[in-house]
Amino acid sequence: MKVLAINGSPREGGNTDHIIRLALAPLEEAGVETEIIRIGGKGIKACTACMQCFKNRNGACVQGGDILNETVAKFSQVDGIVLGSPTWFASVSGDMKSFMDRAGFVAQANGAPLKRKPGAAVTAVRRGGAISCLDTMNHWLHYMQTYQVGSTYWNMVYGREPGEAENDAEGLKTMKNLGANFLVLLQALAPRA
Ligand SMILES: Cc1cc2nc3c(=O)[nH]c(=O)nc-3n(C[C@H](O)[C@H](O)[C@H](O)COP(=O)(O)O)c2cc1C
Repeated sequence: MKVLAINGSPREGGNTDHIIRLALAPLEEAGVETEIIRIGGKGIKACTACMQCFKNRNGACVQGGDILNETVAKFSQVDGIVLGSPTWFASVSGDMKSFMDRAGFVAQANGAPLKRKPGAAVTAVRRGGAISCLDTMNHWLHYMQTYQVGSTYWNMVYGREPGEAENDAEGLKTMKNLGANFLVLLQALAPRA
């Protein structure tokens, strides 16, 4: 089994990266393969509403030259997905929004490859706006027809500068609990021989 995590922060080793790793830890401990792809800061383009993905239905966005298509291609190969974004102006990062817009339509046009797989969203936040940031990612996960995984006090951790998330003990517990909940659903949905 494999779980893919998408990091919408441009900061390598930032708080979003850290909390994604915490949520993935219980999965890894149980032998689940994980992969984190940071799409933040990689020049991901915005959707142009050309709708070519619905005409071509070839699993790709016609805008090449960024990491969108190779990332979407992994949707059908994984058993679950985690979206992580820093809270920016009470929403997701611009890169995460561009990713969700384009990946969402390409996936929808090509058989909904995340359908009936577990999905979870997490956010790193300095002070406020985390709930609406989570809502934005959860709406995408709903549209992808994932089964969403929660935790206590929602999937957020407080911190501003890289490393500060480590000071939010309750947030860290929330991430570990999320990972444990994700594992239960992943195992329950796993095809049996
Ligand atoms: C453009 C921008 C907008 C931000 N907007 C918010 C916000 O609305 N609310 C908040 O609490 N923190 C906000 N922050 C702070 C980040 O959420 C916080 O630093 C977070 O830990 C960053 O995660 P990262 O290390 O993964 O990039 C903002 C930061 C940036 C750069």
